Formats: sequence, structure tokens, C-alpha cells
Amino acid sequence: MGLQFTFLLLLLIKPYIRTLAEEERYYDCQDVYDSGQTTNGVYTIWPQGSTRPFQVDCEMKNGNGWTIIQRRMNGVVDFDRSFLDYADGFGDINGEYWLGNDNIFFLTNGNGREYELRVDLTDWKANNGYAIYSGFRIQDSFNRYRLWLKSFVGGPAGDSMSINNGTQFSTFDQDNDDVINADYGNSRGQVIGTLIEQLL
Ligand SMILES: *[C@@H]1O[C@H](CO)[C@@H](O)[C@H](O)[C@H]1NC(C)=O
Repeated sequence: MGLQFTFLLLLLIKPYIRTLAEEERYYDCQDVYDSGQTTNGVYTIWPQGSTRPFQVDCEMKNGNGWTIIQRRMNGVVDFDRSFLDYADGFGDINGEYWLGNDNIFFLTNGNGREYELRVDLTDWKANNGYAIYSGFRIQDSFNRYRLWLKSFVGGPAGDSMSINNGTQFSTFDQDNDDVINADYGNSRGQVIGTLIEQLL
């Protein structure tokens, strides 16, 4: 596979008001940015509903703080993982990682905010592609992290994820995909795989 980079990034798109007590706690990278920390890097966030804070890598750009939920760049980390691994998250926050479905659930539901999803791709020929969705959320573990995408906004990589809208999260050891066949819509990695096929 010619893939070099895939990033999945979240951006806050709904306006919100913070109360005084919340001011010290960053729900997402946008909060980090808004606090005056405008340098890319690893920060600790603590979305509402999560029992503990956790680290994420933030990409700061043009007034926006993007929360990186997945990064793949060199194949060092194995993404062919179990359902539980995907639930908990894995990898290296400074390298390749998956933030974890439970963390992504709290991030996209607990804060009462709506997020945009940006999928960034770079192939081995250094062609860049991306796809943007306005409105991205996943449900909790009881609902097998069912995917919700509001609408495909655009991007040269095309729309490969809308077909998985409303489906549950699946891995090799747990097939919850009742809509399409087993290996389609298989983990987000598989969805990204589909995007890459289109790009190359
Ligand atoms: C996803 O499904 C919801 C209904 O559950 C719908 O409102 C929305 O438009 C769908 N999004 C896409 C991108 O098809």
C-alpha cells in the first residue's frame, strides 16, 4: 500500500458558552487554542462524561484547534486490532495512534458541541487528499459506537464514509455491521483504506 499519512481531525463547529468552573478544563483542542496555547503538540483534555483526562495531539491552524483522533504515517503501529483495543485506544501519542472509541464518544457527545471531521490523506507520490464532513459523532459502547455523520461537505478524496453512516463499529473479532458485508465498514481503518484506494 502506498499510504504515508492519514489523519482524522475533529474541529468544533458549534458555538458554546463556558461557565467559570469549566475554564481550567480543556474539553478539546479548540479550548487549548482559545486559552492561548497556539503551538501544535500533545495536550491533556478532559471531555465531559469521561472519568479521567487523556492526552491528544492538537493541530493548531488559522484560529482553529483540531483534535487528532487518528494518525497513521509510517506503519510502525499495527492497526489490525481487536474490538477492545479500538475501544481503549492504542499506539504512541507522538507517532501513530488511535484515540480510542470511548474517548471519541465522550469527545463528540459530552461537551454539547458539534464537530467537523476532516480526513487527511497523503500517498507515496505526495498527492494530498482530504474529505470533510460537517457533524460527526459516535455512540457509546452499548451501541457499538454507531457512526453518525451529518453531511459530506466535500474534498478531493471523495465521499467514502457516508455509506457507513448509522452502522456500528466492527473489527475482525466482532462484526456488528448489520448493513453491509463483514469486511466493508470494518473499523475506521478500513474506511480509510477505501478512501486511499480512491485516491491512488
Ligand atoms: C446520516 O443519517 C442521518 C439519520 O440518522 C441523516 O440525518 C444524515 O443526513 C445522514 N448523513 C449522511 C452523510 O448521509
